[in-house]
Amino acid sequence: MATLDTGTGYEVKPSTYIAALTEVGRGTPMGELMRRYWHPVGLVSHATSTPREVRVLGEDLVLFRDGQGRPGLVQARCCHRGTTLYYGKVEERGIRCCYHGWLFDIEGRCLEQPCEPDGGRLRDRVRQPWYPVQELYGLIFAYMGPPEKRPVLPRYECLESLDDGEFIDADDTSIGSGGGAIAPCNWLQHFENVLDTYHVPILHGNFSGTQFTEVMNQMPKVKWDYTPRGVKAFSTRMVAGGKRMERTTEVALPTLRVVPNPFVGGYGRVESLGWTLPIDDTHYRIYTAGRVREKGVFLPKGLGAATNRKRWIDMTEQERRESPGDWEAQVGQGTITFHSDEHLATSDKGVLLLRRMLNTQVNAVARGEDPIGVCFDPEAPPIVFEAGNFLVDA
Ligand code: FES
Ligand SMILES: [Fe+2]
Repeated sequence: MATLDTGTGYEVKPSTYIAALTEVGRGTPMGELMRRYWHPVGLVSHATSTPREVRVLGEDLVLFRDGQGRPGLVQARCCHRGTTLYYGKVEERGIRCCYHGWLFDIEGRCLEQPCEPDGGRLRDRVRQPWYPVQELYGLIFAYMGPPEKRPVLPRYECLESLDDGEFIDADDTSIGSGGGAIAPCNWLQHFENVLDTYHVPILHGNFSGTQFTEVMNQMPKVKWDYTPRGVKAFSTRMVAGGKRMERTTEVALPTLRVVPNPFVGGYGRVESLGWTLPIDDTHYRIYTAGRVREKGVFLPKGLGAATNRKRWIDMTEQERRESPGDWEAQVGQGTITFHSDEHLATSDKGVLLLRRMLNTQVNAVARGEDPIGVCFDPEAPPIVFEAGNFLVDA
């Protein structure tokens, strides 16, 4: 009699995901870790006299710039009776709610209550919930955590010291997802991808044809390790002329991508940084800031690069099936991937190290400690990363 062949779908246990590492709402383990760092919430040009809706870490907020040029970020729901300040009007001193005209400054102080006696004798007793913001590298950063734990906004050497002819540009078109703006899946699926070095020769180099550049199509040798603020992947590939390309890619907690140009437009230190912003549990977007020589061109293409590849937003469904990229692979994992169904292998070591580190840091915050990488010294020097594409003698 034939042996019973098991392993059918019927035997699969109910699927689950690791909520402590993926969910970002206030009061959740990862949500509290996230709220100990600054996050980009828009480009500098997004804060204007027209209120702009932004959703960050599951919170609905309104970004604006008052008549004195100061950016402000407040919760969307008006603290009077809850309509949205998206329909508010921006004035010299702040934002005025459309419903009963309460006026709030960029720190949520209520300056006027026009329906109340004397313009609101008790107006000092209310405060529109707000978050501190700072502008840097063309981006607006917000701190949404406990006020007494607010770290300094980090500065980065790769965005501070410019080579001749370079300037800093910022972008929100999610290059890491192939040109789409808001990806409909959990942020961690994208963040883990940065350390998933072996998907590069498969997805980007073989399955879908050359999506980056020929040298990146090679199966690399890879080593992963912890860094003082995240995890790095060190990979080597042979290039023509008996040289070896050494490529280091990093992530820094909680969301920073430190990824050298995969088109290898040149060799040297990393050119740009990308923040994987969790919009909520099932959407993320990427903000990028980098050293550029041409407005809007972050990643110059090197020799052997795929030149005819369309941007993700310009591709038809048929074209996406024929040559899937990061977007298809990561969104294809589901809105929040089921970790219980995974079978991690040796090539997933980077993913594993990152999950361990996130887990350690979530627990540290839960115990009341400061998480890795936060700094309270305003004089601290800019952070230096190892990341880059380098050419060495083999
Ligand atoms: S709801 Fe905003 S002023 Fe009344
Ligand atoms: Fe990729």
